[in-house]
Amino acid sequence: MVPSGLLPGVCRTSPIALLLVCCLLPPGAQGQQFPLRLDVQSPVVPAGGSLLVNCSTDCPNPKLITLETSLSKEPVGNGLGWAAFQLSNVTSNSQVLCSGFCDGTQMTSSSNITVYRFPERVELLPLPRWQPVGENLTLRCQVAGGAPRDSLFVVLLRGEEELSRHPASGEPAEVEVTVPVLAGRDDHLANFSCRTDLDLRPQGLRLFQNISAPRQLRTFALPMTTPHLVVPRFLEVGTTWSVNCTLDGLFPASEVQVQLALGNQTLNSTVESHGNMITATATATASVEQEGTQEIVCNMTLGSDSREARENLTIYSFQGPILNLSEPSAPEGTAVIVTCLAGPRVQVTLEGLPAAAPGQPAQFQLNATERDDRRIFFCNASLEMDGKILHRNSSVQLRVLYGPKIDQAKCPQRLTWKDKTLNVLQCEARGNPDPQLHCFQESSGLEVPIGIPFLVRLNYSGTYSCKAASSQGTHTMTVVMNVRVCRSGVTSTM
Ligand SMILES: *[C@@H]1O[C@H](CO)[C@@H](O)[C@H](O)[C@H]1NC(C)=O
Ligand SMILES: *[C@@H]1O[C@H](CO)[C@@H](O)[C@H](O)[C@H]1NC(C)=O
Ligand SMILES: *[C@@H]1O[C@H](CO)[C@@H](O)[C@H](O)[C@H]1NC(C)=O
Ligand SMILES: *[C@@H]1O[C@H](CO)[C@@H](O)[C@H](O)[C@H]1NC(C)=O
Ligand SMILES: *[C@@H]1O[C@H](CO)[C@@H](O)[C@H](O)[C@H]1NC(C)=O
Ligand SMILES: *[C@@H]1O[C@H](CO)[C@@H](O)[C@H](O)[C@H]1NC(C)=O
Ligand SMILES: *[C@@H]1O[C@H](CO)[C@@H](O)[C@H](O)[C@H]1NC(C)=O
Ligand SMILES: *[C@@H]1O[C@H](CO)[C@@H](O)[C@H](O)[C@H]1NC(C)=O
Ligand SMILES: *[C@@H]1O[C@H](CO)[C@@H](O)[C@H](O)[C@H]1NC(C)=O
Ligand SMILES: *[C@@H]1O[C@H](CO)[C@@H](O)[C@H](O)[C@H]1NC(C)=O
Ligand SMILES: *[C@@H]1O[C@H](CO)[C@@H](O)[C@H](O)[C@H]1NC(C)=O
Ligand SMILES: *[C@@H]1O[C@H](CO)[C@@H](O)[C@H](O)[C@H]1NC(C)=O
Repeated sequence: MVPSGLLPGVCRTSPIALLLVCCLLPPGAQGQQFPLRLDVQSPVVPAGGSLLVNCSTDCPNPKLITLETSLSKEPVGNGLGWAAFQLSNVTSNSQVLCSGFCDGTQMTSSSNITVYRFPERVELLPLPRWQPVGENLTLRCQVAGGAPRDSLFVVLLRGEEELSRHPASGEPAEVEVTVPVLAGRDDHLANFSCRTDLDLRPQGLRLFQNISAPRQLRTFALPMTTPHLVVPRFLEVGTTWSVNCTLDGLFPASEVQVQLALGNQTLNSTVESHGNMITATATATASVEQEGTQEIVCNMTLGSDSREARENLTIYSFQGPILNLSEPSAPEGTAVIVTCLAGPRVQVTLEGLPAAAPGQPAQFQLNATERDDRRIFFCNASLEMDGKILHRNSSVQLRVLYGPKIDQAKCPQRLTWKDKTLNVLQCEARGNPDPQLHCFQESSGLEVPIGIPFLVRLNYSGTYSCKAASSQGTHTMTVVMNVRVCRSGVTSTM
C-alpha cells in the first residue's frame, strides 16, 4: 500500500488501489468505535487551488493513517492520531478518503471535494442593427465553462435592470440562454448585457459575478403609411418648382434618411423635423433634358425599413406660337406669306386653318390690298399632354403700303362760296404712309388750308390742284372754286 511518488515527497494512490481498500473492509468493522475524522479546510476550492486535509482519530493506538486520493498530495505533518496532507492543483471534483487501523481494524472516512471555476466567456450575442418597436427581440447569451453548474445562473440585463434569470444546469461546455424582449421606444440606445452569478454562498463562500460587454440597442418605428408627396402635375421647361415629402410617426426622427429623386437623378433636399414628423423639400428647375413624364420618388429610410411614395410629373416645353409675315409692311399688290410656327408636338391653327400635323407650321399667302392694311392675323397653338390641353395665342398686324388716293366722294370738285364768308375746304387723301395733301391755285400758286375755316375772298376763285403725296407716289385732283359777290340778290362771278 505504499504508493509510488511522482515528485519527491508527493504520494499518489491509484484509484484501483483505493477500490481495493474499499473491498478489503471487513463487514461490521469494530474500528468504527473510534471514528476517523476527515477535516478539510474548505470542501469547495477554486480550480487549480490547493487545500489541507487532516485525518485524525481518538484511537489510542492508531496505525497507518493515510489519505487515499487521486490528487497530488504532500504530507505536511503528523502527530499522535493525526496526519495532515496538502492537496494541490485541484482541477476536478473528487473524493478523498482517510484510512487507518485501530487495533487491527480499518477505519475510513471520506469527503467530496468540489471545484469551482468562473466562466471563461460570457457573451451577449450581437443585437440586430435596428430593432422594430413592437416586435420581439431575442437576447442570446452564451456562457462557456463555469462550475459547479448547479450554482451557476445566467442573468440578462437591460442597463442595471434584471430582465430574467436562468439556471445554467446541465454539463455542456457552453450554455445559451435566449429571451424574447418586446422592444419599445424606451429601449432605443439602451445597453443590454448578460451576467453569470456563481452563487457559492450556501457553501460558505460568496457570490461571484461575471458580466459580458454591453451591447447598445437601436429601435425604430415607421408608420405603415407612405409619405405624402406634393408635386406639380405639369411643369414647363425653365420653371423652378418645389417638391415636398412628409411623413409623420417616425421614431427616432433624427435618424431618418430621405431620398428625393426625379427619375434616376437625386434631388438636393433639405430635411426638417417637427417631433415625429419629417418634411423634405427640394427645389429644382425643369430642364429640356428632363422633358417627358418623369417619376418623382420620395424614399424615407429608418432602421432596416423604408417607405416610399411615387408621383408622375410631366415636363414639357411649349414654344410659340410664332406668327410671321414675310413682309411686315408690304407694298400693295405684293404677295405676303403668313406663317404660324410652334415647337414639336404643338398643333397650330392659323386664321381657323389647322396645320397638317402637330409640330408642322400653318401658312397662307395673300395679295396685299389696301383693305389688308392693319389687318390682324391670329394663330392658336395647343399642346396635349396626358389628357390636358394647354392653349396659347399669338397675333400680328400687317401693314400694306398703298396710295396716295384722294377720295372723290370726300373731296368736292366744284365749290361755290360767298365772298367774305368763312368756309372750310373739305378734302381727304388715303394712303399708307399717310399722304401729305396740299391744294394750290393753279394761276397764282396760292395755297388754301384744308379742313380749317378761312375767310374766302373774291381772288380765291379759280382752279386748284390738290396733290396728295407720300413715299408711295402722288395723286392729283382738280378742284374748281367759285367765289361770288353777294349784294342784295345780285350775284357776280369772277
Ligand atoms: C490535525 O488534527 C489534530 C486533532 O484535531 C490536531 O491536533 C492537529 O494540530 C491537526 N493538524 C493540523 C496541521 O492542522
Ligand atoms: C495540474 O493538473 C493538470 C492536469 O490535471 C496538469 O496538466 C498541470 O500540469 C498540473 N499543474 C501543476 C502545477 O502541477
Ligand atoms: C460524494 O459524492 C458521491 C457521488 O458523487 C455521493 O454518492 C456521496 O454521498 C458523496 N459523499 C459525501 C460525503 O457527500
Ligand atoms: C413576444 O414574445 C412573447 C413571449 O414569447 C409572446 O407572448 C408575445 O406574443 C410576443 N410578441 C410579439 C409581438 O411577437
Ligand atoms: C450605453 O452605453 C454607452 C457606451 O458605453 C453610453 O454612452 C450610453 O449612455 C449608455 N446608454 C444608457 C441608456 O445608459
Ligand atoms: C469572473 O469574475 C471573477 C470575480 O467575480 C474574476 O476574478 C474573473 O477574472 C472573471 N472572469 C472573467 C473571464 O472576467
Ligand atoms: C412645401 O413646403 C414649404 C414649407 O412647408 C411650402 O412653403 C411650400 O409651398 C410647399 N410646396 C409645395 C409644392 O407644397
Ligand atoms: C438616367 O437614366 C437615363 C436613361 O434612363 C440614362 O441615360 C442616364 O445616364 C441615367 N443617369 C444617371 C445619372 O444614372
Ligand atoms: C446639390 O448640392 C451640391 C452642393 O450643395 C451641388 O454641388 C450639386 O450640384 C447639387 N445638385 C443638384 C442636382 O442640384
Ligand atoms: C429606399 O432607399 C434605400 C436607401 O437608398 C434603399 O435601400 C431602399 O431599397 C429604397 N426603398 C425602396 C422601396 O426603393
Ligand atoms: C406614372 O406613369 C407610369 C407610366 O406612364 C405608370 O405606369 C405609373 O403607374 C404612373 N405612376 C403614378 C404614381 O401615377
Ligand atoms: C395675286 O395677284 C396676282 C397678280 O397680281 C394674281 O396672279 C394672283 O392670282 C393673285 N392671288 C390671289 C390669291 O388673289
